[in-house]
Amino acid sequence: MAEIQLSLSVLLPILLLLYFLKLLWSRRHYPPGPLAFPIIGGLWRIAFEKEIDGMTPIKAAKQYGNVFTLWLGHFPVVFLCGFDAVKEGLVDHSEGFLDRGLTPFFQKLSEGKGVGFASGHAWKKQRRLGQMALAKLGVGKRIMEDKIEDEAQQLVEIFASQKGKPFDPILFITNSVSNVTFSLMYGYRWPVEDPNFEKLIKSNEYLSNFGLTIFYALYELFPSIMDRLPGPHKKAMEMTEMLLSLSKEEIRKHKEQEPTQEPRDFIDYYLREMEKEKNKNDPTSTVDEENLMHSIHDIYFGGLGNSSSIIQFAIIILANRPDVQDKIFKEIEDVVGSSNICYDDHKRLPYTHAVIHEIQRYRFPAIIGIPRQTTRDVHMRGYIIPKGTIIVPNLLSVLLDDEYWETPHKFNPNHFLDKDGNFVARKEFLGFSTGPRSCLGENMARMELFIFLTRLLRVFHFQPPPGVKKLIEEPVKNATLPPHPYKVCAIPRNS
Ligand code: HEM
Repeated sequence: MAEIQLSLSVLLPILLLLYFLKLLWSRRHYPPGPLAFPIIGGLWRIAFEKEIDGMTPIKAAKQYGNVFTLWLGHFPVVFLCGFDAVKEGLVDHSEGFLDRGLTPFFQKLSEGKGVGFASGHAWKKQRRLGQMALAKLGVGKRIMEDKIEDEAQQLVEIFASQKGKPFDPILFITNSVSNVTFSLMYGYRWPVEDPNFEKLIKSNEYLSNFGLTIFYALYELFPSIMDRLPGPHKKAMEMTEMLLSLSKEEIRKHKEQEPTQEPRDFIDYYLREMEKEKNKNDPTSTVDEENLMHSIHDIYFGGLGNSSSIIQFAIIILANRPDVQDKIFKEIEDVVGSSNICYDDHKRLPYTHAVIHEIQRYRFPAIIGIPRQTTRDVHMRGYIIPKGTIIVPNLLSVLLDDEYWETPHKFNPNHFLDKDGNFVARKEFLGFSTGPRSCLGENMARMELFIFLTRLLRVFHFQPPPGVKKLIEEPVKNATLPPHPYKVCAIPRNS
């Protein structure tokens, strides 16, 4: 026994030393970053941070450069920070950085299916299908605008029913934004009290919080061990299963419906494409029910978290700034008068348009965004990033890049206005990412933000509840940076 102990105490340090030397050797062509040790990799660098938040990679970039490597255990993750590096990666090396970076946890949840987490040929097919379906169902056109207007109007009525008293608008906003996507996906809306809607919101919340827990990190480092152990990671998986089963049930119901001439919604459209694909007898086809289920999930969450979080923040930011609200109100009154506002009016409302962009810049709803993966060896800035490396294009760092934004950490609509008050589209505004894999729902999201916010601001003046000086503008520190729970007063303008 003593001999075994002795050999272990000699062997283990030697093995660790060899492992450390191997890591040092592997690192030589990668961009610089914290020294990587066996088991923990470069995570020690983060462990010394007071708290881990959206600023953590930005601070690391100041030390190691805008393209740096953080070793998570034994696998390297390359971060791109700031506008120049992110643009260089996603546009100049767009093909090389095209695949989705699936860490063990995301591989487990998504199985690389759907549109948001697929790669290669499968992704191209699902993305194309998604784009065609959205175009066919009227995204970017009047049909979608009508749906958004209906939802915005319902939200106005809910806010009006609060009669200017303090209330929590978060769930109502989430429900209205979800309903735009539900009508697109399923062909109908879910009322706020629908038990499935509640399940959806709770799961989304749980999954967003889970992203910054130690159990999440442990799963990424030791997936096969964690697969055998109970814990919150298992709950996160069950929740994803439950969410997928809701889509499965909708697909089943759609299959039983009488066919119509034109597709009624996304599921209808996809099922028709599946039929066409069956006739081609292509064994490599990825147009199937599993991919449909995951695509619904990706489109729903792609839209929900982002659009609804930005509208929730918009109300906080504007309630804290009555002058900005009044300026928007006056611009709408002067330009549109009492006519209906449509999305095209954004061209005539430069100040309003600038404020909406600035809200999205100032409170971007993702701590790091969705990782990519290299499809081949990429030569960038003198480094070699080997095929298969996970890449994090850090969009938050672009929107807070102090080389491009005059007051990156301050809300400032002038970021998007010239000296004559005209709207200026800034190339550094990568709020929907850039390159061939940028946000699939950008047109829809732009419409949602504009229509929801102009409708609300035309009818209400938002203000903090009596006795509250200022609503909290800092986000909750989880993967999706939502606002803290809050109450606000929506005072009707005509009262
Ligand atoms: C203001 C709201 C939104 C913001 C800020 C936003 C932002 C983003 C970002 C940053 C990405 C990652 C792109 C990349 O990997 O480079 C993305 C991807 C995606 N978004 Fe959005 N999004 C919004 C709304 C929507 C909506 C409404 C939809 C649904 C129609 C949607 C569907 C998707 C999908 C499916 C992807 C994955 C695309 C792919 O991997 O090919 N998003 N979005």
